[in-house]
Amino acid sequence: MYKGSLSGRQERAPQGRRHAGSQLERIMTKTSWSPATWRQKPIQQVPDYADQAALEAVEARLATYPPLVFAGEARKLKKGLAAVSRGEAFLLQGGDCAESFLEHHPDNIRDFFRVFLQMAVVLTFAGQMPVVKVGRIAGQFAKPRSAPMEKIGDVELPSYRGDNINGIEFTPEARNPDPRRIEDSYRQSAATLNLLRAFAQGGYANLEHVHQWMLGFVKDSPQGHHYQEIADRISEAMAFMRACGIDPETAPSLRSTDFFTSHEALLLGYEQAMTRVDSTTGDWYATSGHMLWIGDRTRQADHAHVEYMRGVKNPIGLKCGPSLTADGLIQLIDILNPDNDPGRLTLICRFGANKVFDHLPQLIRAVEREGRSVVWSSDPMHGNTIKAVTGYKTRPFDLILKEVKSFFEVHAGEGTVPGGIHIEMTGKNVTECTGGARAITDEDLSDRYHTHCDPRLNADQSLELAFLVAELLKTSRIGQAKQAVASGF
Ligand code: TRP
Ligand code: MN
Repeated sequence: MYKGSLSGRQERAPQGRRHAGSQLERIMTKTSWSPATWRQKPIQQVPDYADQAALEAVEARLATYPPLVFAGEARKLKKGLAAVSRGEAFLLQGGDCAESFLEHHPDNIRDFFRVFLQMAVVLTFAGQMPVVKVGRIAGQFAKPRSAPMEKIGDVELPSYRGDNINGIEFTPEARNPDPRRIEDSYRQSAATLNLLRAFAQGGYANLEHVHQWMLGFVKDSPQGHHYQEIADRISEAMAFMRACGIDPETAPSLRSTDFFTSHEALLLGYEQAMTRVDSTTGDWYATSGHMLWIGDRTRQADHAHVEYMRGVKNPIGLKCGPSLTADGLIQLIDILNPDNDPGRLTLICRFGANKVFDHLPQLIRAVEREGRSVVWSSDPMHGNTIKAVTGYKTRPFDLILKEVKSFFEVHAGEGTVPGGIHIEMTGKNVTECTGGARAITDEDLSDRYHTHCDPRLNADQSLELAFLVAELLKTSRIGQAKQAVASGF
């Protein structure tokens, strides 16, 4: 009786103490955390501000401004992610590589949200479970760079680090980090979030409307016939519900949705200024967005970014690239989620389409062996960036799809949950990634290449990806049901 009621997971060794007494103890003197302790650690990817006094003045002002999000919302997202970790929901996370001041237009926000919601409907239907909707938006400004300086001809200037730090134009004035940009990005984030909240709650997310937009896409897409079946079945399901008296007029949940924001927590001075104590729990929360993540370049266990993130209670993400070892991952989990709190930590995997099988299984096995609760998400963008012959940075749609497929395959093999996807996308019909149903070629890239950083999926490519992931999700759902039957459930 007692034995039988224990799942495999609970039978494993006690958690969180594997590295006790070692390097970990030095890193984790939990009592000594404050929003400022990261300042005592080595740090990567910091801008070099000429005027420190101006920077401090901006940070001091920001610390008095209203929070952008509320701790209760972050807890709600964490609950949703806990459901994802159990295979009871699916995570859709996406948006710009980098938001910019130039593209801060209501139409861009609306078009992004429009595509994002359509993707969510398709995935909700295919997975037969809720989709947790998290935008890379309303705060996604700062960019880590591979080199601190950029050289064009004989001129060398600081690299562009995102609109909250410096300007993209290749001039000394623009490239000089300017603290006023931090305040500008705070205000842009507030305005963006305000519109998104209005859309999510004010009627724009009406399920029947979103479905109608999707039917428009299916009709116009060269590959539309491929998606027709799923679209028809959603139409039938909605008509059936309406006939039963459940429609957006009678059921509020059909005309609104929960939408959350996220960004890479790279500029720690800004994050510190936005870190506040939640009066209901006494815990520290980052209030610049609901979910923050640590980039693949700044995840050193004893460095500043990990130090900052371990102390805030928000759900957090960790980008996992090819250089992350199984031991390195467990060490980071020890630091970032010592209480093994479900929904706290999302592992965002970005290996490259041909490297998933080399890296992901060993990470999954380590996490399973140690009995850690995580959300596994696939970022099929960042490991698949190439330079086109025309000189543009691009990502072939086929490689993006291949990475997601491999991610699902590995999880099916390991008996674990492929929890979500993390993509760079826009609602506009840009030409930044090659391929897709409309077969964008290398030569087409120059037509509408607008990104401030990495190439994004355009509106059509994003929806296409959602339909293809929907098929994977359906197969995975059926596979899991079969496994459950076979194991005597
Ligand atoms: N409220 C539900 C949800 O967010 C259903 C829903 C309403 C929905 N509008 C939506 C789902 C738009 C996806 C997209 O899941
Ligand atoms: Mn990017």
